[in-house]
Amino acid sequence: MTGVICGTGACVPDRILDNNEIAQFVDTSDQWIQERTGVIRRRIAQTETTASMAAEAGRQALEEAGIRPEEIDMILAATATPDHIFPCAACEIQERLQAVNAVCFDLNAACSGFLFAYQTAQAYITSGMYRTILVVGSESLSRIVNWEDRGTCILFGDGSGAAVLRAKEGRNWIPAAHSDGKGGPALLCPGPNVSGNGGNLPGSDSAEDSGLERTGITMDGKAVFQFAVRKVPEVIREVLDANGLSADDIDWFILHQANRRIVESVAKRLKTDIERFPMNLQEYGNTSSASIPILLNEMNRKGLLKKGQKLVMAGFGAGLSWGAAVLEWGI
Ligand code: ACO
Repeated sequence: MTGVICGTGACVPDRILDNNEIAQFVDTSDQWIQERTGVIRRRIAQTETTASMAAEAGRQALEEAGIRPEEIDMILAATATPDHIFPCAACEIQERLQAVNAVCFDLNAACSGFLFAYQTAQAYITSGMYRTILVVGSESLSRIVNWEDRGTCILFGDGSGAAVLRAKEGRNWIPAAHSDGKGGPALLCPGPNVSGNGGNLPGSDSAEDSGLERTGITMDGKAVFQFAVRKVPEVIREVLDANGLSADDIDWFILHQANRRIVESVAKRLKTDIERFPMNLQEYGNTSSASIPILLNEMNRKGLLKKGQKLVMAGFGAGLSWGAAVLEWGI
């Protein structure tokens, strides 16, 4: 038994923020951003929320799959930017979809989130525990970006993508995934301040400045770049070897859409034609856990994915964390 994707969906905010508009509030230019990252514009959530976008993406995926909300056994939401610390985003999605029989929880692995959630869903399905799982990647990164830091604010965007997996007879592909907590400082966003003696008890030092710090995302861009171009080809080779495949057997490599130079470098290191590495980061920027399912949905809806084609999905990001999965397209 394996989990086969039988429907996809995506939802991005209406508001478009292009490079020229960013150049009005930080010292940068459209040319610099495009040359270094490939990004031209991104979407910014205004009325939309992490859960509202995810529910819409999930609704589309269920519609395509012909699955009723009450048939879903589990909703797994990959997000680093839930609307609330609790309840989790997955429970909010459940409520919006009326997926009353689903067990729901979030998974935060930053930009590896969708890939890790997909692998988690596969584990539940292959164990026989659940049959129908909605996996969503959804982010409102614009809320945690430091809009005064030109080194990071140019990169990110908001959006959501979803895939619904159903148990079917088929091959169980061996996954690959890794983490390295030593690399944490390279890409960081502080959460509620729990430092200082006495925790946040009234009267303690840290009580006064508890709550979210305002530094937003900080990043050592060069370190992240070097990590990605070294580890992503490595983990793709690992997953191919584990499944007795070569890069030539793969029709599409669906990579996390961090930036164009990373994707190009991975294709080159794998000695693989760049045409098999689709990109849409020029339109959406880096949407973290949402980037893989948004791209998957776009390709699905354009009819580029054919039944029986083999895909590799690869995620990488903060943690540091990285991983890859092989799948056979089933729609
Ligand atoms: N506009 C103009 N100049 C800029 C900007 C900007 N937006 N940002 C930085 N600069 C300047 C710097 O200040 C520096 O100036 P200096 O030489 O006078 O000091 C110069 O440009 C070069 O800066 P670098 O940081 O060396 O630029 P680099 O070529 O490394 O590009 C970038 C920066 C695009 C962030 C690159 O490091 C990168 O792509 N890193 C990968 C990070 C990434 O993709 N993160 C995404 C999140 S993680 C993930 O999804 C995996």
